[in-house]
Amino acid sequence: MKSKIFIRHLFCAGILGTAFIGTAAWSQTKPESETNLILEEMAALDRAFKTVIDALVLGDMQRIPPALKEVAEAREKVEQAIKTGQKILLPKNQSQLREFLRLDEQFHVDLEELNKSAQTDQKKAVRNYAHKILDACVVCHEKYRK
Ligand code: HEC
Repeated sequence: MKSKIFIRHLFCAGILGTAFIGTAAWSQTKPESETNLILEEMAALDRAFKTVIDALVLGDMQRIPPALKEVAEAREKVEQAIKTGQKILLPKNQSQLREFLRLDEQFHVDLEELNKSAQTDQKKAVRNYAHKILDACVVCHEKYRK
């Protein structure tokens, strides 16, 4: 009796598992226009910012430039989308997209400055930019993230 229930559970798990894998595969093959480009950029940013903190803590600025490369690529996709007139979807305050894009622009200027400071091993400047950038993450999320 017990083993029958067990087998039934196993069977259900198999179906759910297949559905899950199917969904994951589907989301990966979705066309560019349907994926959330902001979220992709954020995922890259999240990884990069953790590396920036490690770099500061360990005093090793060389870790920073490669980490920011991925962010630049994700950002490039967002810019491309804007140029080609694709809709940028925001979870909150969609009507203030223009202001969002301005914040994002300034944010990337600061990231670029941080990158340059890292390349020239200016630890103090990297630290100052890291603070500024962290504040910008919070400001933008308060306004545009649910
Ligand atoms: C210019 C605005 C802006 C800035 C700056 C910004 N973010 Fe975001 N972030 C967003 C928005 C908008 C979302 C929500 C996207 C969505 O859910 O569609 C988001 C989502 C995220 C998420 C995903 C959270 C989730 O719901 O899964 C992470 C992680 C994240 N941001 C990290 C960061 C980090 C780290 C920084 C700073 C280094 C940062 N963001 C700076 C706008 C910003």
